[in-house]
Amino acid sequence: MAKKTMKSKENPARICVVMGSDSDLKGLTPCMETLDGFGIDYEVYIASAHRTHEYLKRIIRKFDRAGGSVVIAAAGGAAHLPGVVAALTTLPVIGVPMVSKLLGLDSLLSIVQMPSGMPVATVATGGAKNAALLAVQILAVSDGRLRAKYEDFRAKQAEGVMAKSKKLQQKGYLHYFDE
Ligand code: RP5
Repeated sequence: MAKKTMKSKENPARICVVMGSDSDLKGLTPCMETLDGFGIDYEVYIASAHRTHEYLKRIIRKFDRAGGSVVIAAAGGAAHLPGVVAALTTLPVIGVPMVSKLLGLDSLLSIVQMPSGMPVATVATGGAKNAALLAVQILAVSDGRLRAKYEDFRAKQAEGVMAKSKKLQQKGYLHYFDE
């Protein structure tokens, strides 16, 4: 994960990544690594919906006013952080349920069961990478160069799957469909 410096208002980060605790950092690292891979600017904060709610409010309001685009919010257990972020901004919010003492089922249900009118796009438990990819897809709607990068990523991913499939087929384990 690249070290981050504060962005000036003229050059705001496009994504804000916020997590409820430093104990979420390891599980969320694939999110930052994926954003690094696409060369996207992001800010990362630890701010809890419960323990530091005023600090969280200041972060989200500042990011929104500065012209940011997407918030990725990760939390575990009584995972209210993504929902509280959604209440503080009209920017799209992606919720990441962190694996917890209850295997992340508590986090998942806390994040996914938002009331009608307050959506949070929820990825799988521990779905840090998919959260980043979804954020990239949102940005790519209005960024042709990023869209091209994302399409390239998808093509390479498909090539990787096909190569593995072909290898197993050559060893006689699988059928392989080739027109
Ligand atoms: C949540 O509580 C955090 O997102 C974290 O996943 C969980 C446990 O936090 P710690 O007690 O490890 O700080 O707010």
